[in-house]
Amino acid sequence: MTDWKNPPRLFIPGPVHVLPEVLQQLARPTLGHRGKEYTQLHGETVEMLKKILFTNQNVFLSTSSASGVWEGSIRNCVKLDETVLCTMCGAFSDKYADVARACGRKVEELKVEWGQAITAEMVDAKLSQGKYAAVTLVHNETSTGLTNPVYEISEMLKQKHPDVLVFVDAVSGMVGLPMHFDDLGWDVVFASVQKAFAIPPGLAVFAVSNRAMEKAKTVPDRGYYFDFLEFAKSAAKNQTPTTPSVPHIMALHYQCTRLLGEGMENVWARHKKMAEYVREWAKKNFALFCPEEYASNTLTTVKNTRGIKVADVINAVQQKHNTVFGNGYSKLKQETFRIAHMGDITIDDLKELLGWIDDEIN
Ligand SMILES: Cc1ncc(COP(=O)(O)O)c(C=O)c1O
Repeated sequence: MTDWKNPPRLFIPGPVHVLPEVLQQLARPTLGHRGKEYTQLHGETVEMLKKILFTNQNVFLSTSSASGVWEGSIRNCVKLDETVLCTMCGAFSDKYADVARACGRKVEELKVEWGQAITAEMVDAKLSQGKYAAVTLVHNETSTGLTNPVYEISEMLKQKHPDVLVFVDAVSGMVGLPMHFDDLGWDVVFASVQKAFAIPPGLAVFAVSNRAMEKAKTVPDRGYYFDFLEFAKSAAKNQTPTTPSVPHIMALHYQCTRLLGEGMENVWARHKKMAEYVREWAKKNFALFCPEEYASNTLTTVKNTRGIKVADVINAVQQKHNTVFGNGYSKLKQETFRIAHMGDITIDDLKELLGWIDDEIN
């Protein structure tokens, strides 16, 4: 059983390690969500998020995990007779296609091997062959530790396919990786707070472009909980349509204040530095699972070239040091392992973790 006075240190790619002072925010006395104090909290949080995401458009808070916004993006912005191009390069981008199908939309797949990236050329070639209402992309594929070249893809989309809506799953990318929502021309982006925001799970942050909001007005049967038009109506009053997780929003306000205090360029540079450190260790001891040019700055997926027993090493580090890192995802369980370096994890934490893994494997 977990000793709650001495919780395990998490290096799994979400939920990640949460600072005690952030946990304290979740323990603050709660507020009525239609009252003045809440609307101030909500308004300030959204204003900060707009700076963090580099947008002047719509930012919403959803008391759900990000998977809800997978569904929301499809149900609000794609009509039943329209087709979505789903780009797929790992477990989570694959699931986005499943969600679109589960919402009854027509899906065309653009699929590469796990560990490979989606490129602008591939997306262009596919979009040029058909009529698509939207394209789905994963910013950072958490199952493989890969960052897609979303800036290049977005530039191509703006130039060659400006009418196609762009939905981006940035669940493990947002905050840790550069993202300029308005300049990129994206229409929906979302993340859960248990990744680089370094808050316990239970809330999602999402941004929606003005043109996607206009499209939503023309789409029937958008559903109830994730109806973007309801989010917008409530956002005009600095509120949410349904009762939000107020404690999470207190923690998010706290974390956004810290992020802006540090400056987003510095936050991204800090993540890059941690990633480089882990990548050097991984290359020295094993190999990277992805081509290095696409290796993520928020987590590293290490290729198990030495055939170590991943579960045994994870167990040993947990037993001896009360610290947990991630196994490979799904079919990569034994073939890889994953180390998160996002949020409030530091280089010193990583040095300690990698030293402990060294002790087990050498
Ligand atoms: C890239 C990506 N997309 C979507 C999800 C689903 O997020 P959630 O479980 O918070 O709904 C995850 C979860 O790890 C993820 O890593």
